[in-house]
Amino acid sequence: MKNILMVDLFSQYQKIKTEIDSAISQVIEKSAFINGYAVKEFADNLAKYLETKYVIPCANGTDALQIAFSALDLPTDAEFIVPSFNYVAAVEVGAFLGYKPVFVDSLEGFYNMDTSKIEQAITHKTKVIVAVHLFGQCADMEHIMEIAKKYNLYVIEDTAQAIGAKYTSKNGKTKSAGTIAHIGTTSFFPSKNLGCMGDGGAIFTDDDELAKKMRCIANHGQEVKYTYKMIGINSRLDTLQAAILDVKLNYLDQYNLARQKCADYYDNFFKNHPKISIPARNSQSSHVFHQYTLSLDERIDRNRLHKELQDKGIPSMIYYSSPLHLQEAYAYLAWGQGTLPVAEKLSQNVLSLPIHTEMTEEMLHYICMSLKEILE
Ligand SMILES: Cc1ncc(COP(=O)(O)O)c(C=O)c1O
Repeated sequence: MKNILMVDLFSQYQKIKTEIDSAISQVIEKSAFINGYAVKEFADNLAKYLETKYVIPCANGTDALQIAFSALDLPTDAEFIVPSFNYVAAVEVGAFLGYKPVFVDSLEGFYNMDTSKIEQAITHKTKVIVAVHLFGQCADMEHIMEIAKKYNLYVIEDTAQAIGAKYTSKNGKTKSAGTIAHIGTTSFFPSKNLGCMGDGGAIFTDDDELAKKMRCIANHGQEVKYTYKMIGINSRLDTLQAAILDVKLNYLDQYNLARQKCADYYDNFFKNHPKISIPARNSQSSHVFHQYTLSLDERIDRNRLHKELQDKGIPSMIYYSSPLHLQEAYAYLAWGQGTLPVAEKLSQNVLSLPIHTEMTEEMLHYICMSLKEILE
């Protein structure tokens, strides 16, 4: 058996090496490295795949969020609602732009924002809800969009961990993650479900005005060269990365399916385990398992388990070991211990197991048997 990795990008590359190498060579041969043909081609293909009107490529998923926030022309005292059990990007860019993060607790098992807690967090300053599809499954978007409509708020959908996931509304209409809200953002960080070989990101919208503005912001605030219409940033998707992504986009559904098969294997093995809970499934969303994350019960010493797995050659990760409301950077918001009990509990009891496109049944069997044995 090969070494077990959290994510095996080299083996994934080897299977499509000829296509990737040829895509890279073509960029080099044309030597149009900045905003070359591949950037537009990939953006067009991704827009088709997601069935969205505009895909605006940019340098990474954090920039995508920053550009999205910047395009909304928020008042300087605006507040935005965001889950605390989350990657830092949305909170950081909103706060960096001077807006106030208002944290909302999460749902046990699902790991996404508890939408029943949103309305109580809304004030007259609230302007945006950031919905994050954590670990590969959509947040309860229908409820979030209903609340947004009621209070006239924007919704930014961070789909960095859930590209390719589908969400079905109660009326039966299915949409891709990232295309339900006013703006969707994603990251093409190498380990993401659609990852490049460096940094990359993109923004999605169906709104003509927002699209125009976000494209302008990402390009130094210019529509015409050397004419600055607004304050912008420089955020470009590298042409080599776009060429790589254009190849990998053809495999995205296959890659997500491979991840789902791993998750099914883990689910079946651990569904009745007395000490661990498998991830809960939202019936309105497919789950593309960017991470396969277990909740451990309090009898388990997580650090010890992590070490024991490691000793057997099994990596595992803790996403995220501290919720954002308890981080030093956000201490000025004065949340404090005990304010978001589920987020705090999750940060203490989650453990993510290896899941990627190159896992074999032999690996899954070995991981499951080893974990079971350790927990006995
Ligand atoms: C949910 C989420 N949002 C945003 C990002 C930021 O993406 P990037 O690293 O490309 O800036 C990440 C990256 O891990 C993420 O997981």
